[in-house]
Amino acid sequence: MTILAIIGGTGLTQLEGLDIRRSVDVETPYGTPSAPVLVGDYAGREVLFLARHGHPHRYPPHKVNYRANLWALKQAGAEAIIAVNAVGGIHPAMGTGHLCVPHQLVDYTSGRDHTFFADDLEQVTHIDFSYPYSESLRQQLISALAAQGEAYSDFGVYGCTQGPRLETVAEIARLERDGCDIVGMTGMPEAALAREIDLAYACLALVVNPAAGKSADVITMAEIEAALHEGIGRVRAVLAKVLVG
Ligand code: HPA
Repeated sequence: MTILAIIGGTGLTQLEGLDIRRSVDVETPYGTPSAPVLVGDYAGREVLFLARHGHPHRYPPHKVNYRANLWALKQAGAEAIIAVNAVGGIHPAMGTGHLCVPHQLVDYTSGRDHTFFADDLEQVTHIDFSYPYSESLRQQLISALAAQGEAYSDFGVYGCTQGPRLETVAEIARLERDGCDIVGMTGMPEAALAREIDLAYACLALVVNPAAGKSADVITMAEIEAALHEGIGRVRAVLAKVLVG
């Protein structure tokens, strides 16, 4: 059976219900990951867990050591990764609380360490990234969402911005013209790094606010936190369903 890892985003710095057996401190050639890799049983199956922003939450999206995180998970034995990401909703279907399994992404980040193929290269490697997410892992998430009776979208384009500030109304209008349905700050370079080291990767995105200009109000941290609080239990239930199959 594939060894699955979960990368928990904002609101999921720990996986309640995970029966932790080991906590592995991994040093990587790229530095220290955000947190130790936790190995344990969740819903009766062995799983690895890593808190993307650290536990407690301490690294903002542009400061996360994505390379160390992915390398550490690979070294700990992961073969596939489900990433949980909080996002803003752009498309009208992506209201607060909605869950989306994106099928595509657009990368607007800059200045992040975004590749393992940077130094001491004998030859440059260009990974194919036409389809950034693993279709089989996406289908597992979609089946779990359907079985849980969740309102969800089985496709969507994830626009990844640099942060940590939220976007302007004009920036969101541009993302919308580009075809983005949801916007977040942590989807990249994570997805590409996973591909570079042959880890299957898919994303479960929880909409926690309407993106800038998509509601009459400005975005507050209080509304984001309330939406995370409400939604994260449903995310956990979907992850458990994926694990039991
Ligand atoms: N924009 C970018 N990232 C986000 C948002 C947003 O509106 N909400 C949660 N993460």
